[in-house]
Amino acid sequence: MLSIRKSGAALGAEITNVDLSRETSHELFNAITEALYEHEVIFFRDQNLTPEQHIAISRRFGELELHVRADCCKPGYPEIFVVSNVVENGKPIGARDAGVIWHSDLSYMREPSWGSVFYAKEVPVDSNGVATGDTMFASTTAAYAALPAETKAKLQGLKSLNSYAKGYARVRKGGQKLPPLTEEQKSKVQDVAHPVVRTHPATGRQCLFVNQGYTTKIIGMDEAESDALLGYLIAHISDQRFVYRHSWRAGDLLIWDNCSTQHCAINDYDLPQRRLMERTTLRGSVPY
Ligand code: SIN
Repeated sequence: MLSIRKSGAALGAEITNVDLSRETSHELFNAITEALYEHEVIFFRDQNLTPEQHIAISRRFGELELHVRADCCKPGYPEIFVVSNVVENGKPIGARDAGVIWHSDLSYMREPSWGSVFYAKEVPVDSNGVATGDTMFASTTAAYAALPAETKAKLQGLKSLNSYAKGYARVRKGGQKLPPLTEEQKSKVQDVAHPVVRTHPATGRQCLFVNQGYTTKIIGMDEAESDALLGYLIAHISDQRFVYRHSWRAGDLLIWDNCSTQHCAINDYDLPQRRLMERTTLRGSVPY
């Protein structure tokens, strides 16, 4: 029996009294998976994990993806995508400002990731000792449920176009842009159409599936109509009624469901405040 403490927001729960470096039973992992489906974001505090343990725990939830940005993966561990502002020997050790726009991971792929397993290794603190670099999570099921009936009817059957190149091309903190994608990278991330409302494959819940980071248009609408609808949906999803904001502590292992949630990282810190997070990404299926 899991001990679960709900966040009080539309989504999010802490699971207490579990040491993931020791626990291996099927019953426990089944219960954790059920908790993830129910609460959409779950987290465990005070975990002490090696990269091998992080990968092994992630594999309990399914197959892992390798990220298109191999330059941001942990050396020797292609399954671990590093999100960090740390620079070593003049080179960033990971993606510096990944996720600072609302998105779900790999939504630009034909089979978007179903979940992500995020391990906080170093968390920045400000001069008052307060943790910075929080992440916000929005429930796309709660956002869908709250839509007016006529909007729900209008969205049925619509598809959107999703593009990795859109998110990649955005201007970064300090006005920087990333180098152009290589031909090999481009071939791995071609634009893809997805339903605007998708059905969660495990729970059957309806989820809004367009996002600020990667969705470029609603297929079959002219630009003005598409921009207006996308703008409305993106603002609606990130409404505070549907958001849980996670304040990180080193040792947190947090798992989010990329179908029933979106997230947005808050980049309110700078070196010498270090943020070092490591993510594995769970392979998903074609949305319907
Ligand atoms: C991500 O989108 O995977 C990064 C989230 C974060 O840095 O908090």
